[in-house]
Amino acid sequence: MNQAVNVSQEMLTVYAPASMGNVGVGFDLLGAALSPIDGSLLGDRVMISAADFGVNFSQVGEWAHKLPAEGKDNIVYQCAEFFLYKLDRKDGVNISLEKNLPVGSGLGSSASSVVAALYALNEHFGKPFDEQALLGLMGEFEGKISGSVHYDNVAPCYLGGMQLMLNAQDKACAAIPSFDNWYWVVAYPGISLSTAKMRELLPSQYDKAVAIDFGRNLSAFVHASYQQDAALAIEMLKDVLAEPYRAAAIPGYTDARSALAELGMLTTGISGSGPTLFSVTDDLATAEKAKDWLLKNYISQSGGFAHVCKLDQLGTRCV
Ligand code: HSE
Repeated sequence: MNQAVNVSQEMLTVYAPASMGNVGVGFDLLGAALSPIDGSLLGDRVMISAADFGVNFSQVGEWAHKLPAEGKDNIVYQCAEFFLYKLDRKDGVNISLEKNLPVGSGLGSSASSVVAALYALNEHFGKPFDEQALLGLMGEFEGKISGSVHYDNVAPCYLGGMQLMLNAQDKACAAIPSFDNWYWVVAYPGISLSTAKMRELLPSQYDKAVAIDFGRNLSAFVHASYQQDAALAIEMLKDVLAEPYRAAAIPGYTDARSALAELGMLTTGISGSGPTLFSVTDDLATAEKAKDWLLKNYISQSGGFAHVCKLDQLGTRCV
């Protein structure tokens, strides 16, 4: 940790994009940040400014009513408290969370709040943590909500693009090339699923053949990404670890998968632990058709939505 020098006196607003954990083929090991092509922001925002003492927390936004009513129970409050304690600050912060992502959606909602908060706090206090240390904190705090530490949402949310988890001594993840002409259609049906419960559906052990398929698919997908071989990447983008056990717990997913294939989408998978699904194409007209189909057939509750996205290459930023 570096010594904090300048505390910003200005109000800072930070945006952290939605993300797809797993990206189908890389359970807990691959993740990508999303950016709707219509220019709308799909992610939480955190506003921060200096205060005399302690943490003054507020929460606003479309999904704020789904968060704990008591501010101190909110992870953003806890991130701020951690910073004040760690830096031994006698002053405080005003910190506000604009909760734009639905909770339990499979779009990295908790990661978006945690990453926006820790990024904002780090900027506000003059960057006491470097990138790797901050990423470590993001993983730890997000793990408190999702029930286990996995970086496949926080890493792409923070750093942007498609991120492969390394968990190496000095490097948590690395960006891999993506396909610039791919459209990622994502649809959130409006229901909420707990990541912890969706993890409980998975077996604790897998057959040797499944382990080999997983390793082959993921390494071949990464190879194809570096080669920019889109056909090979699509062929390898398969989920043998989670989808077979989670699909039935996501209403309408299996039917949607078949319908999207008939519409000409190249492949479809579960975003994170669901219920959001993603579907890939390199053709904008097909992407728009898929989005319309999903809006009519996959959305089951108010608050559901569908977007045609590209990958967000910027990650978390001041806006
Ligand atoms: N890799 C995690 C899981 C992501 O699938 O359980 C959760 O968003």
